[in-house]
Amino acid sequence: MSRPLRLGVNIDHVATIRNARGGRHPDPVRAAELAARAGADGITAHLREDRRHISDVDITRLVCDIDLPLNLEMAATEEMLTIALRHKPHAACIVPEKREERTTEGGLDAEGGFAHLQPIVARLAEAGVRVSLFIEPERAQIEAARKLAAPVVELHTGAYCDAEDSEQRAAQLQRIVEAAAIAEDLGLECHAGHGLTYDTVEPVAAIPTIVELNIGHFLVGEAIFVGFEASLLEMRRRMDAGRGRG
Ligand code: PXP
Repeated sequence: MSRPLRLGVNIDHVATIRNARGGRHPDPVRAAELAARAGADGITAHLREDRRHISDVDITRLVCDIDLPLNLEMAATEEMLTIALRHKPHAACIVPEKREERTTEGGLDAEGGFAHLQPIVARLAEAGVRVSLFIEPERAQIEAARKLAAPVVELHTGAYCDAEDSEQRAAQLQRIVEAAAIAEDLGLECHAGHGLTYDTVEPVAAIPTIVELNIGHFLVGEAIFVGFEASLLEMRRRMDAGRGRG
């Protein structure tokens, strides 16, 4: 029997729209409340070094006011570690971060950054925070995550979602399928995310050992046309359909 598949709703881009004008509207915490009512299993928020979307106050409010588990996406920096240890969110997903990038381009180099990451992963784990590493679907990266004692890997689905034709997409999906199998063999919990849409989510949801998908940009964009709750419910429906086929 396949495992339940959780939906983590990333609310970063509600904050992007708010910040385009300053002020308080639209409020990402209100979006998180709505996501909770619509059946999300968790809230994901990325506190970036430049605070381009989510702010420090948003994180405080998400921790205090929202009942769902918070997955804090963070760069592996002292500043972010201090913030994570202060709030002790349910989970922290360590992501690579470049100031000039538009979004998180590519996965974390867990292998090359091993020495830098090790104390950060250890300190989060000691504080009871479930650590995940956002990595490319590659054996070397998954093995490095295992050596770092991170209990979770999140596989970057960007290359799969951005594939230009069906052949490329099938090849990228195969990488994710194989990576999920490697993670399972090594005893790691496997998540996936980045760039997922109604059209791309089902084959990923069908991979039975992936237990969480983190989705944001598409849901917020689609909400402009159909409302946030409706976009979430449709994504959930497609996730369930994919899971049913897996
Ligand atoms: N997972 C991680 C680790 C991410 O960095 C992001 C983007 O912030 C997502 C999932 C969600 O990606 P998207 O907004 O493209 O759905």
